[in-house]
Amino acid sequence: MDDLETLRAELTEAVEAAPDLAALDEVRVAALGKKGRVTALMKSLGGMDPEQRKAFGQEMNRVKDAVARTIEQRRATLEAAALEDRLQHERIDVTLSARPEGTGSIHPISQTWDEVVAIFGQMGFAVAEGPDIEDDFHNFTALNFPPDHPAREMHDTFFLPERPDGSRHVLRTHTSPVQIRTMLSQKPPIRVLAPGRTYRSDSDMTHTPMFHQVEGLVIDQATHMGHLKGCLQEFVEAYFEVDDVPMRFRPSFFPFTEPSAEVDIGCSRKDGDLRIGAGDDWLEILGCGMVHPNVLRACGLDPAEYQGFAFGVGLERIAMLKYGIPDLRTFFESDLRWLRHYGFGALDVPTLHGGLGR
Ligand code: PHE
Repeated sequence: MDDLETLRAELTEAVEAAPDLAALDEVRVAALGKKGRVTALMKSLGGMDPEQRKAFGQEMNRVKDAVARTIEQRRATLEAAALEDRLQHERIDVTLSARPEGTGSIHPISQTWDEVVAIFGQMGFAVAEGPDIEDDFHNFTALNFPPDHPAREMHDTFFLPERPDGSRHVLRTHTSPVQIRTMLSQKPPIRVLAPGRTYRSDSDMTHTPMFHQVEGLVIDQATHMGHLKGCLQEFVEAYFEVDDVPMRFRPSFFPFTEPSAEVDIGCSRKDGDLRIGAGDDWLEILGCGMVHPNVLRACGLDPAEYQGFAFGVGLERIAMLKYGIPDLRTFFESDLRWLRHYGFGALDVPTLHGGLGR
């Protein structure tokens, strides 16, 4: 038994002396591992007579448990110390001021997104969101696209693999499904703005498979086309920071609006320089219209009681026009030189009183 007591004392001392977790593990293996001292003693039990084996065995287990306990305690102490050490070393001072030499910048899409939200926010619009992966109902059917209607192909839809019930989800082809989600989940009066990513299988000089739109939706009991025009006029002047921008509403077609219009704004071009405002030319910037009665019905609203308008703007398009960015595809190339040139300062948050993007 003396032997065992010495062994326990020696092992305990080794455990207490282990300076770190790796050293502690070595001590553990040397004591309790397959070829450890405790394990070797255990094996010697076989050669003893039954009486002796019982007494020795019990004593042995006591020592083994005691050693194991000491190891666990030491491990907890060492782990706590290691954590404390990390906390001390990885400490950062969040009160330090931002470093002006930092090279990060805000992408023109994010900036434009924030500017549009700030302008419509001022008019009382709340931001609404929907998923990038949509079902057929929200992306098409509820928006009055008849089944097998060519308009569904007009959108060059990305379809997801067929599901067990035969239906296919899509990458949303526009932000208009957020209209449906909003009307199904909120009661009028509704005034929402839905910025987000949209997808169409199209890629050339003026199309990228992923792009951004901002959807606007207003539903109330006496909403009319005059409200739509006033609202868009206000937006265009605030966004382009130009007074009295001429606007032209050209008749158009969307399944989910009736009447529908495409909106042009006045501009002039001199020596390849584009200027928004009174001029001799027109520039198309968005699609809009009065929400179709079928869409209202699909959302459980009575068209005899509620009307409204909707519009959809391409974010890249208006960013290009305002900031003189000539090529759409450069938005998504992550070229650092481009980002440094067209990017915005992180602290330059768009506000109407601050003149939005400076
Ligand atoms: N969803 C249309 C598109 O992507 C744009 C739009 C939105 C038109 C709302 C009218 C009203 O082409």
